[in-house]
Amino acid sequence: MCGAARAEPVATAPFTVAIDGPAAAGKGTISRAVAGRFGFAHLDTGLLYRAVGAQVLSGVAAVEAARSLDPAALEDPALRTAEVAQAASKVAVIADVRAALLDFQRAFARRAGGAVLDGRDIGTVICPQAEVKLFVTASAEVRAGRRLAELQGRGTDTDFETVLADVRARDARDSDRAEAPLRPAETAFVLDTSEMSVEAAVEAAVAQVAAARA
Ligand code: CDP
Repeated sequence: MCGAARAEPVATAPFTVAIDGPAAAGKGTISRAVAGRFGFAHLDTGLLYRAVGAQVLSGVAAVEAARSLDPAALEDPALRTAEVAQAASKVAVIADVRAALLDFQRAFARRAGGAVLDGRDIGTVICPQAEVKLFVTASAEVRAGRRLAELQGRGTDTDFETVLADVRARDARDSDRAEAPLRPAETAFVLDTSEMSVEAAVEAAVAQVAAARA
């Protein structure tokens, strides 16, 4: 559980799974599968930063965009572009942007019935008391290959070198920033999926959650 203890019936007690890792590591796929398997809610926290980044691209100030963020905006498929991803990682270095998004994420993590949150700082900053912390990673080349397939599947015209450069630029910005830098929590289970199938990665994550539930 994250934050102060609350008296909840066992069946609906909060249970937080924190899944962090670099760009395109497969956090989304694993998070959705874990949430589905255990009946937990899922929040892709990258969408919060993408939604703020998209607002900045259309001329809104970053902190104002973060403070007035409408969760309905997270459904917009336009948030999935590489341009918005870069804008997201630029606004994500701003302390006041991160602070404005904190309460929403912590409330989501503590909701009754369990929650999976994926991002960069869930196990380290948002929810250090999460019952399960995973750090999902893979080589930059493998991640770029997966993201290329995803973008091409949506009809985006791009190539491997462009996507690899995007992944590396965001890795550097996310890891080197002062505020909530990307790093595994001390107690995180590190899952390197470079040579794993999607199914094997999902099963490894599910096993960690099942062990913590037992
Ligand atoms: O899907 P992908 O892994 O490419 O990126 P994302 O999870 O949608 O995140 C987009 C950007 O938001 C990242 O590059 C980070 O800079 C930022 N982010 C963050 O700072 N903290 C989070 N908890 C989630 C995302």
